[in-house]
Amino acid sequence: MRPLPADAVVAVIGAGAMGAGIAQVAAQSGHPVRLFDSRIGAAETARRKIVATLESLAAKGKMSIDAARSAGERIAVVDVLADCVSAKLVIEAIVEELEAKCALLRELEAIVAFDAILATNTSSLSITALAAGLKHPSRVVGMHFFNPAPILPLVEVVSGLETDSTIADAIYATAAAWGKFPVHAASTPGFIVNRCARPFYGEALRLLSERATDPATLDAVMRDAGGFRMGPFELMDLIGHDVNFAVTRSVWDAYFHDPRYTPSVLQHELVAAGFLGRKTGRGFFNYANQAAKPDIIALPAQSRPAAVRACGELRAAGTLLSRLASANVIVERGPPNPAFPSGAIAVGGGWLALTDGRTATTRGAAVGVRDLVLFDLALDYATCTRLAVSRADTCSESVWRAAAGALQAAGIAVSPLDDVAGLAVMGTVAMLANEAADAVTQKIATAHDVDIAMQKGVNYPLGPLAWADRIGIAQVRDVLVHLGAQYGGDRYRVSPLIARRCATGQPLADPS
Ligand code: NAI
Repeated sequence: MRPLPADAVVAVIGAGAMGAGIAQVAAQSGHPVRLFDSRIGAAETARRKIVATLESLAAKGKMSIDAARSAGERIAVVDVLADCVSAKLVIEAIVEELEAKCALLRELEAIVAFDAILATNTSSLSITALAAGLKHPSRVVGMHFFNPAPILPLVEVVSGLETDSTIADAIYATAAAWGKFPVHAASTPGFIVNRCARPFYGEALRLLSERATDPATLDAVMRDAGGFRMGPFELMDLIGHDVNFAVTRSVWDAYFHDPRYTPSVLQHELVAAGFLGRKTGRGFFNYANQAAKPDIIALPAQSRPAAVRACGELRAAGTLLSRLASANVIVERGPPNPAFPSGAIAVGGGWLALTDGRTATTRGAAVGVRDLVLFDLALDYATCTRLAVSRADTCSESVWRAAAGALQAAGIAVSPLDDVAGLAVMGTVAMLANEAADAVTQKIATAHDVDIAMQKGVNYPLGPLAWADRIGIAQVRDVLVHLGAQYGGDRYRVSPLIARRCATGQPLADPS
């Protein structure tokens, strides 16, 4: 499918944060742009800001002065919607209200040519509902940019029940021609990213509600072990709790209160207090000028054990052993221990093992090991600088210290969590993969597009499906099953795709 020709007129309706960004992208791609906003002066203000942005890009050498000038000149502010008559593509980015958007689309339908595409940048409304009642609902399509549109590369191309697939393909090709990473999605609550990212916040809020540790420490674990660019609490503070809570609520409502998406009482309290995050100076963290940066909790330096014994296959965590060996800790090899089918490290008379979704206390009791310390998942054990750990209630102080000393000897900061199920990174990644797998099962998007969307839309270090493949699908399933056993209910039910791929051994990220 071919993209819209570069000389085709693009109309952008709504000149707020998103509309202005989209107008800039379209103009930089060569399109004549018509910019309209119902608030008098808003479109002109947006145009001036875009011109200033383009000039500053040119001043920084990021584009030529000529390109910046001509892109700015391509944007024409129009005072009445009827002046968008020549548009081949209209992208609406007005207020997020179904009635307002439906009314606008009806009005546009009477203005533009029959073959013009009507695209919406809605982040939460159903494309099917927006198109319903129009004379030609097949030309309505979601073109969901992320904020800021000129910088973030992802565009979700969202098809409603009546969207013509050639229209969706044309928008996909156009977004690609504009230098974006488009993905196809079916119109369902949250589309891909806003749905599949819910566990990133939800699991962190669960851990905080159980007082596993404090927000700064959980953030540090997610960054330093999980490889996420930002931790969930600092990210929620940046997004704004009003916005983040509203998105969670809307996905939860739209899925008829599926417990997967249950909002958090903790976040509700922040919204009620007006602690909306950075924009109000306070959220989980305090942004006042003099506010001290919160400390990240880590265990003080412990003496390193002279030797450890590795038993069984440790998979990716095996690289921890190389780090220990490089730090001159003697690494002996022992026979597999039936208590730890996925391997474990004997240290100080007790055991150090990767979490399998059970608490250390439950798991230790189940396998008859009193002195058990669990460590969390890391994106890359060869390079991680921090790991979360927890101990069974029965674990002796000396084993706890020896386990921490071993990890510290390998150059890893050790952040203790209360004995919570699934620790931080493992529980979150298992739930992200589960959500992504359900999106694939439900044919909302392909495995490839879900993984791309999460990397390009929210900067995850790996697509959740590829990440689950790397951990081992059976291990991810076990974590979910154990979390489900711990918490009951339906929140941690295993996606049918994960169950099937466990049976066949085929990777989750497999395109077939
Ligand atoms: P905004 O509030 O910054 O801008 C909306 C603009 O639309 C305002 O300038 C307003 O005057 C104008 N407007 C309202 N009703 C209008 C009408 N009937 N006709 C013409 N103009 C009208 O909002 P923002 O953040 O730019 O969001 C716009 C859309 O983009 C919403 O649908 C939102 O859900 C979606 N979106 C927002 C993202 C964000 O991070 N802000 C990210 C992705 C999508």
